Amino acid sequence: MTTASAPGKIILFGEHAVVYGRPALAAPVTQVHADVDIAASDRPGIWIDAPGISLRCELNALPSDHPIASVIHNFFPPLSSPHFRESKMEGQRGVKITITSTIPVASGLGSGAAVTVALVRALAAHFNVPMSAEEVNAFAYEIEKIHHGTPSGIDNTVITYAKPVYFVRGQPIETFTVGEPFTIVIGDTGISAPTKEAVGDVRKLWEADREKWEGVFDQIGRIVKEAREKIESGKWKELGGLMNDNHALLQQMTVSSPELDRLVEAGRKAGALGAKLSGGGRGGNMIALVEPSDAEAVVRSLKEAGAKNAIVTQIG
Ligand code: MEV
Repeated sequence: MTTASAPGKIILFGEHAVVYGRPALAAPVTQVHADVDIAASDRPGIWIDAPGISLRCELNALPSDHPIASVIHNFFPPLSSPHFRESKMEGQRGVKITITSTIPVASGLGSGAAVTVALVRALAAHFNVPMSAEEVNAFAYEIEKIHHGTPSGIDNTVITYAKPVYFVRGQPIETFTVGEPFTIVIGDTGISAPTKEAVGDVRKLWEADREKWEGVFDQIGRIVKEAREKIESGKWKELGGLMNDNHALLQQMTVSSPELDRLVEAGRKAGALGAKLSGGGRGGNMIALVEPSDAEAVVRSLKEAGAKNAIVTQIG
C-alpha cells in the first residue's frame, strides 16, 4: 500500500492581490491534512472511496470534470493508457484509492489543492512514476485552473512544498525564514464559499475601474513586503496592525462578509494583536495573531461569536 499526505494552508497576507501579480505570504497548517492510500485490489478497476464526501464508486462512474476524476484522468495520462495499465498493473487486477481529509471544504484552507497534491503523490508512488516537487506543483496548478478559474498558484505551491512561502505569480518558489515563531488562531465561519466566485467578483470590480483597484493591490503589495521583513526579523508583534490594514482593503474588495467581520472583531476584542480574513473570503476562515498566552481566550471568543471551529497553529 502507498500513502501520501498534504497539509492545509493559510494565506497570511496578500490574497486576491496575488492574482494580479502582487506578492503574498502563505504558510502550511499541519493540524489539518488530506490523506490518500492506494492498495492493489482483486476487484478489477480503479475504485475510489472518499467517505468524507460519501463517494464510493469506480472511476468511470464519475463525470470527467469531477475534481478527483480530473486528477486521475486528465493530468495523469499514463494511467489512461492501456499499455501503462498492462505494464504497471501487472499482478494487480485493480486498485482501491481511499481519500480522507480533515480540511474543511471551501473554507480557504486549501482543501482542494491538498487532495490533489496527496492524490498525485500517492499515484506516482504506487505506479512507480518519479515526480519531483516541481512536477507535482505544476500538475496541481493545472487542476486548480480547471476548478478555480484564474488561480495565482499560491495554494498548490505552499501545499506542495509544505513550507512558508513568499509567492509571486509565475516566479520560482521563494521560501522565507521566520525570525521568531508566532501564534495564529484560525476561526472558521462554517460558511462554505467557493474561491472561484470571490475571485470572479474581484475581477469584475477590476475590469470596471482598473486604476482604482491596481492602486488597492499596490497597497496590499506594500503590506506584504513589510510583513515579510517583520517576520524575518522576529518582530511578529508588529504584524497585527498590518493584518488589520490588509483586512480593511479586503473589505473594500467586497470579499469579507458579516460573519467574517464578526469573528475578526471578536478576535481583536479578546486580545488578538490583529486579525483578517484568510483565503478567498465571503465565508471560510479568518486568522488572528495572538500572544501564546491569549490563544485560548481568543478561541473561546471566536466560538462565542459564531465560529464553527477554531485551531491554534504556530508559524515557524
Ligand atoms: C485563495 O487561497 C487565494 C486567492 O488569492 C486566490 C488565488 O490566489 O488563486 C483568493
